[in-house]
Amino acid sequence: MRPLMKALSFAAVLAAASFAGMAQSSASFDSTTKVFRLDGGNVSYVFGVNQRGELQQMYWGGRIAAEDHFGPAMTQREWASFDTSYTNTPQEYAGWGGGLFVEPALKVTFADGVRDLVLHYDSHQLTAQGVDVVLKDISRSIFVTLRYRIDSTTGILARSATIENREPQPITIEQAAAAAWALPSGHYSLNYLTGRWAGEWTLNQETLGTGARVIESRRGSTGHQANPWFAIQAGDPDEHHGEVWFGALAWSGSWRIVVERDQLDAVRVTGGFNPFDFSFVLNPAVKLETPVFYGGYSSSGLGGASRLLHHFEIAHVLPHTVGTGDSAAPKPRPVIYNSWEATEFRVSEAGQIALAEKAASLGIDRFVMDDGWFGQRKDDHAGLGDWYVNKEKFPNGLKPLIDKVHSLGMDFGLWVEPEMVNPDSDLYRKHPDWVLNFAGRPRTEQRNQLVLNLARPDVRDYVLGFLDKLLTENDIAFLKWDYNRNWSEPGWDQLPPAQQKQVYVEFTRNLYAILGELKKRHPKVEFESCSGGGGRVDLGILQYADEVWPSDNTDPFDRLTQQDGFTYAYTPQVMMAWVTDSPHWLNKRTTSLSYRLLSSMQGSLGIGANIAQWSGDEIATAKRLIAAYHEVQQTIVQGDLYRLISPRNGSEFSATQTVKGDKSQSVVFAFIHSTQEGHTFPHLKLMGLDPTARYALTPIEGKAEAGTPTVASGAWWMNHGLVLGEDFRGDFQGAAFRLDKK
Ligand code: DGJ
Repeated sequence: MRPLMKALSFAAVLAAASFAGMAQSSASFDSTTKVFRLDGGNVSYVFGVNQRGELQQMYWGGRIAAEDHFGPAMTQREWASFDTSYTNTPQEYAGWGGGLFVEPALKVTFADGVRDLVLHYDSHQLTAQGVDVVLKDISRSIFVTLRYRIDSTTGILARSATIENREPQPITIEQAAAAAWALPSGHYSLNYLTGRWAGEWTLNQETLGTGARVIESRRGSTGHQANPWFAIQAGDPDEHHGEVWFGALAWSGSWRIVVERDQLDAVRVTGGFNPFDFSFVLNPAVKLETPVFYGGYSSSGLGGASRLLHHFEIAHVLPHTVGTGDSAAPKPRPVIYNSWEATEFRVSEAGQIALAEKAASLGIDRFVMDDGWFGQRKDDHAGLGDWYVNKEKFPNGLKPLIDKVHSLGMDFGLWVEPEMVNPDSDLYRKHPDWVLNFAGRPRTEQRNQLVLNLARPDVRDYVLGFLDKLLTENDIAFLKWDYNRNWSEPGWDQLPPAQQKQVYVEFTRNLYAILGELKKRHPKVEFESCSGGGGRVDLGILQYADEVWPSDNTDPFDRLTQQDGFTYAYTPQVMMAWVTDSPHWLNKRTTSLSYRLLSSMQGSLGIGANIAQWSGDEIATAKRLIAAYHEVQQTIVQGDLYRLISPRNGSEFSATQTVKGDKSQSVVFAFIHSTQEGHTFPHLKLMGLDPTARYALTPIEGKAEAGTPTVASGAWWMNHGLVLGEDFRGDFQGAAFRLDKK
């Protein structure tokens, strides 16, 4: 059982954090001052060993000159007997002990009941891409290796910790962060993302007050309610200007980020495993690796921060050219058709073939059959866990449908929800012990389903086994991997009580292990991370998932705000966006097909409507805009994104622009919520173009103002701006343009 786990564990996580092509980054250690310095992109990160032997943060910000030097790290003084030097000094990774009142990075209990942990510098090893620094407790053999890597292009750092017990007795870890980040005292605003089912990706912006702001999931997975990303801006939030420090945690289990402004106004951000209901018994000679906490700095406002993150995600986080192991950037996503909103569970061979024929006529690249094809799945009461093809719906298996989809020039994708089981299933009847549960206690169902305890080796092997079989026996290019509930009663009764809370770590590790192994065995297969919409989007899952489903809410107007929030943390490359039917099932809002298409074209486009009922005009509109999208997709999903006008806070207008990396192309989207008092659309002063180059303007949908030049300089488009046509007014209107360098 264990070899799979051993081979896959967190090696993959850390490999992804070992950036290729690091020529412009450097890491150094000054043995006189005992100062470490990392440089990459426009960023420098400096920390040192202070006079007590602790590792202390000294600088994180814009890149400083190579000849600039920092003196030795000096501890902060005791402010009063209540505010010890130990608590005031911004440590890189503080153990709980010695009078620490701020958030600890690591808290342990030793076998003899001692709960004091004071970590001092022990040794280090410079690598081509960063440094590994080993800390050790002042008297006991607890070693923590802090791993730092910096990206040469974006200056984004990857930090994580490995905790090792070299004591003769087990220790219990009660809290383990991946990293702690520190900022000097000042006036800051905090940005973070919250939500709920069908209402994900709300950007919250607030003044960072004194105290602790906790952003977390206690749900066993990433969650809709908050997302493991933050951005702290000096002063008030500003999209285009100002200093921003940001970070994202690569973990799909329960997580926590604590943003503190302490009693002396210093700011720290500590993030890692959520300590709620957590403990990990570390036996002698055993190690615990934390997730990676990425952190970055931009001097170009929140927009600059998200552009760095997008590039970093594409270059270093997302699965790369599948199977070949090379470092080519992930390709733009195929334009997909998904059957869910058209048929829900009522899938059949004939019905899916009819949809596939229509989809092919639209120019769709990939046809995905959603829920309903397996076991006794007529609705959400039964079937999860029984991953055999339902013979009533598909008498000859999936092959006839897959062959048909291929003959229509598309590849085939399928929905699965591997970690779940309905009590009404053969699997549950056979293995009722396989679910998360506490013996003798109720098993709370959500959507009539229970969570399989993926931490168990037998469950892990079952899930890997059926998925491997499914992918081996069928020509499947893509799995939409769904996850439709959160945890309850998270017991793991195979283990002694003291060790059961390790489920929070082992479950997620096994999820990654399965995905990693499937990628290895089926290198061409791509994955989508879906959790009832955007409940599992984070930089951990994105090492394996080629795309994510941001929300079950496909209302094109709501999506504008959701997509705006999403892109603060994640690249549009992974942001799937389907066009569905109107009036929309959630808001009962009626919108035109072109508005729906333009809204979805801001990300990775898909169609999820009941196209079997579309008219000839609708087919023609979709075909035209899908073709236009295909031509500029790479710019939209992998270019530099500028959020020109935010749709947030009830804005009457919104607009985005993306610029291709070499500045040869740009795409602009403009939307009107509801014109009021005849307001005209604001002039769109474009950004990021080459001022001296000449760009030709081509409408994709809508018109520019009469007299707008067809070709003008980048300076013209950025200074004079793009002015939309006089008749661009009304409710739920959209327009889009492309600019191509001549
Ligand atoms: C939730 C997903 O978010 C939907 O897109 C759909 O796949 C359903 N589950 C199917 O049960």
